[in-house]
Amino acid sequence: MFSSPDHDNIMILVATPCLLLLYFVIKTLRERLFPDPQLPPGSLGWPLLGETLQFLPTRRTPKPERFVSDRMKKYNPQVFKTSLFGETVAVFCGPAGNKFLFSNENKLVNLWWPTSVKKLMKSSLSNVVGDDAKRMRKMLLTSLDRDALKRYIDRMDLVAQNHIRTHWEGKEELKLHPTINLYTFELSCRLFASIDDPTHISKLAHHFDIFLKGVIHFPIYVPGTPFYRASKAADAIKEELRLIARRRREALDKKMESHRKDLLSHLLVTTDASGKLLSESEIVDNMLMLLFASHDTTTSAMTCVMKYLAELPEVYEMVLREQLDIAKSKEAGELLKWEDIQRMRDSCNVVSEVLRMIPPIRGTFRKALVDFTYAGYKIPKGWKLYWSPDSTTKDPAYFPNPEEFDPSRYEGAGPAPYTFVPFGGGGRVCIGNEYSRPQILVFMHNIVKRFKWDLLIPDEKVTYDPMPAPSHGLPIRIQPHQSSA
Ligand code: HEM
Repeated sequence: MFSSPDHDNIMILVATPCLLLLYFVIKTLRERLFPDPQLPPGSLGWPLLGETLQFLPTRRTPKPERFVSDRMKKYNPQVFKTSLFGETVAVFCGPAGNKFLFSNENKLVNLWWPTSVKKLMKSSLSNVVGDDAKRMRKMLLTSLDRDALKRYIDRMDLVAQNHIRTHWEGKEELKLHPTINLYTFELSCRLFASIDDPTHISKLAHHFDIFLKGVIHFPIYVPGTPFYRASKAADAIKEELRLIARRRREALDKKMESHRKDLLSHLLVTTDASGKLLSESEIVDNMLMLLFASHDTTTSAMTCVMKYLAELPEVYEMVLREQLDIAKSKEAGELLKWEDIQRMRDSCNVVSEVLRMIPPIRGTFRKALVDFTYAGYKIPKGWKLYWSPDSTTKDPAYFPNPEEFDPSRYEGAGPAPYTFVPFGGGGRVCIGNEYSRPQILVFMHNIVKRFKWDLLIPDEKVTYDPMPAPSHGLPIRIQPHQSSA
């Protein structure tokens, strides 16, 4: 008896997914029951879920570093395998692991971001690797390097003063995390694109908030899902940025604006080695990516600085002394300059110690480009590779008494190479590394010289979602210093 073509097609339609599922189940069971001894030790957890359900909850505990440190002890202190978000992952640990990943970009490994990030910022740095990434990083860095930064300091100071007038003066209590959140967004709007109108800033902030909630999510483009809402919000922000960029291009062409006005102007005029400008979508997507990469990281770091300053009076006094010395050396109304930032050494050490104690980013991914061997184990092509500051920053071998807040660790030679890596490293190190410190220090200067504050919830827990934030928003009681009351 012969079957009809329709019948054959139905059989193929039913059999193909079944065979694929069977293949997947057999492969998954084999990997779990008979692990290849050449691969790094570790557990792949449950099929599909892997160890994601163990990884995510640790972020809401006081010791989120335990996901990595427990497995380093159990399996291997140099490298172990796990499975996260449906991907098989090798976690590279310790200074040697960090060094290996950071120095092998474009050779054995490439940066890897989740699909949702790539889709929302298609033409940005997050979507390019190899020579394209080198070209784009170089162009973006012209707007964030030391020369550009020197010109941003007085504007950062003005925005901080304005923020204090609006949100701090005359108040007895406030919630720090949401207040700082507003501040960092406003600062980025003003410094990146000279968006100064408060109504315009709040409109963008509204879209940005929705964007942040869905940017690292399952990339399901169906109405109602966080990713769908984030895509719509990203479209709205990009449309605004496109209009601003077009107007600015005209003004630059007519020589009505300086090409050094802000980050946007830099991006509009910077050319690569062959004389080519960034395209309009590259500019708009990169502006969104810079907002994304800078916002929660800086907000988290600033909030945690404020938390430690409230909890540790001797650290607060040290920072106050330094900032008052700088304030006294200025004329009335004179704004901060790059040279003043260089004098904030103790405050800068406090920022570093905060970044060690509570790193805003708990790690990023790379992808293996080829099969290679690391620490005696085979790492197959295509595996995702993860590094985390957690594998070194709480290890007493590199940071004695790691639970103690000690800003003096950064004096002299400071931490050993590849042990203190809150900004990552190598070819894909954070490009806001230089920019973020003055941003935090200018804020500290303005707040500390005018206020002291108490935490209304002592020992408020800091949890990750995905960036660290105090679980109740860090409410504080403010006391202005007598002289500035
Ligand atoms: C305290 C603040 C910040 C921290 C802790 C931080 C940390 C990081 C980390 C860990 C990475 C990944 C590096 C790697 O995978 O090796 C990164 C990437 C990045 N950061 Fe930051 N960041 C901060 C602020 C900023 C700011 C202010 C900007 C921009 C103005 C920025 C822009 C970027 C960009 C564009 C990337 C991607 C670089 C690439 O893919 O090549 N970050 N950051």
